[in-house]
Amino acid sequence: MTFDLRRLLDEHRPDSHRLFAEHVNPRFASVLRTIGFDRFFVRAEGQYLWDAQGHRYLDFLGGYAVCNVGRNHPTVKQALSDCLDMDLPSMVQFDAPPLAGMLARELTRRIGRGLDRVYFTNSGTEGVEAAIKFARAATGRPGILFAERGFHGLTTGALSLNGCQSFRQGFGPFLPETRMVRFGDLADLEGALRAGDVAAFLVEPVQGKGVHIAPNGYLASASRLCHKYGALFVADEVQTGICRTGEFLAIDHDQGCEPDMVVLSKALSGGLVPVGAVMVRQRVWDKTFSSLDRAIIHSSTFHMGALAMAAGLAVLHVCDAEQLAARAKRMGALLRDGLDELRQRYDFVKAVRQQGLMVAVEFGAPKSLGLRAAWTAMNAIEPDLFAQAAVMPLFEDHRIMCQVAGHGQPTVKFVPPLVIDESDVAWAVAAFDDVLREMHGLGGPAPKLFARLGRNALTRRSYEVAATESGMGDE
Ligand SMILES: Cc1ncc(COP(=O)(O)O)c(C=O)c1O
Repeated sequence: MTFDLRRLLDEHRPDSHRLFAEHVNPRFASVLRTIGFDRFFVRAEGQYLWDAQGHRYLDFLGGYAVCNVGRNHPTVKQALSDCLDMDLPSMVQFDAPPLAGMLARELTRRIGRGLDRVYFTNSGTEGVEAAIKFARAATGRPGILFAERGFHGLTTGALSLNGCQSFRQGFGPFLPETRMVRFGDLADLEGALRAGDVAAFLVEPVQGKGVHIAPNGYLASASRLCHKYGALFVADEVQTGICRTGEFLAIDHDQGCEPDMVVLSKALSGGLVPVGAVMVRQRVWDKTFSSLDRAIIHSSTFHMGALAMAAGLAVLHVCDAEQLAARAKRMGALLRDGLDELRQRYDFVKAVRQQGLMVAVEFGAPKSLGLRAAWTAMNAIEPDLFAQAAVMPLFEDHRIMCQVAGHGQPTVKFVPPLVIDESDVAWAVAAFDDVLREMHGLGGPAPKLFARLGRNALTRRSYEVAATESGMGDE
C-alpha cells in the first residue's frame, strides 16, 4: 500500500474537528465551536483562506503574524521544493551548512548595527531563551527586566518575562531575578537598572498584546540607559520584524536605538517552516561561545535545517522584490484612516492604534447612557467579551478572521499578510462599519453576542454529547 497524503486528507477532512478534539485539544475544539470558528479550511493563498464550500475568507489573523509574504507564496514554495529535489543534506550537524551562512549574511546586511552573529532557532520563544542565556553569560549578572503586558513566548524562561498574569498562573515559580517595569516609562526602567544586577532589558517595540506602540524615542533612550548601567538591550522583534510595521525592523522607527540582540522568528518562516534568528553583537556572542569546548554550548538539534534556511532566504527575497515594508506602511495607513473615520462615528470605539500592518481597535465606555449600561454589563462579566462581540460577527457574517488582542483588553487586533490590497482594506472597513452599527443598535452588543454564544453553545453541547458517546473528551 502506498502512502497517499491527498487521499488521507480527503478521507479525514470531514472528521478533522472530531479528531482534533479526541487526540489534541478538546478544550480548544470547544472554544472554536463556541465562538463560531469551527470551519474546515481547505486552501490558502496570499491573504485568503477557502473553506470546503468554496467561501473565501480574509485572513487578518495571519497565523499570529507569520504570513507576512502571504500564504503559500510561490517563491517560498519553489525554494522548499528545490531543497527536496536536490536531496540536500540537512541536519548533518558536524558541518557548516551553506544556507545558514547565506541567510545569516542576508540578515546582518539588512539589520547592521554591529549585530554580526546569528544564532538560528526554531521558534520565537526559543530565541528569547537564547537571549536570556547569552545576556547572563555576557554580563555575569542574573537580572532580566521585562515590560508590563509583554509577551515573549510560553516556555519557562520566556514565561518568566510575561507581563500578563493570566499566562503565568499555575506555572510558577519563575526564573529568579526577573522583574517587570512599566512600558514606555524611562524613570521606572532606570530605577530597576540602578540595582546593578541587570543583565538585560527585553522589550517588544510594539507590544503584541493590545498593539501598544513604544512612545517616540523610548527605545533609543532605553537602550542608552541599559548601556549606562552595564546591561544589554534586547529587542523582541518576533512579531514586529520582517517588514510588519513598515520598516524591516520596528526599531528602525527609532533611529538611535542600539540593541545588543534582536530576536526574530514568525514571518521569517514564510508561514511554512518554523525558523527564528537571534541577531547578536559580537562581544556578547564571544562571551557566550567563549572557547573551543564551548563552541556549541547553546544549540538544538533542528536549528539551521535546510528547509528552514531556504524558507528564510526566499522570504527575504520576496520582502525586497515586492517592497513589503513600503506596502505595509501604505496599507496600514489606509486601514487606519478607514477605522479612524469609524471611531469618529461610533461611540464605543475609543482608539485606533497602528504601526504598519499591526493595527488595533480599542473599545471604551460610550458617552450615551443607554449604551453605557451595555458596556458596564459586559465588562462586569468579562472584559474580553466586548471585543469578542466584534470578532464573532466579523468572522461569521463577513468572513474576516481576526482576534481579541489580549486577556482583559477590550481590543480587536489585525495582523494581516502584508500583501493585502486596497480592496481588502475596503472589505475590512465596510465589515467593521456594519458590525459597529449592529453593536450600537438598540440594547448594544450584549443581546446579539449572547444570542450567538447561546446558539453556538447549543450546537457545541450536541457535539460534546456525540463526543462523549464515542468515548472522548472530559468536558
Ligand atoms: C513578541 C513575541 N515574542 C515571542 C513570541 C513567541 O514566539 P513562538 O510562539 O514562536 O514561540 C511571540 C509569539 O507570539 C511574540 O509575539
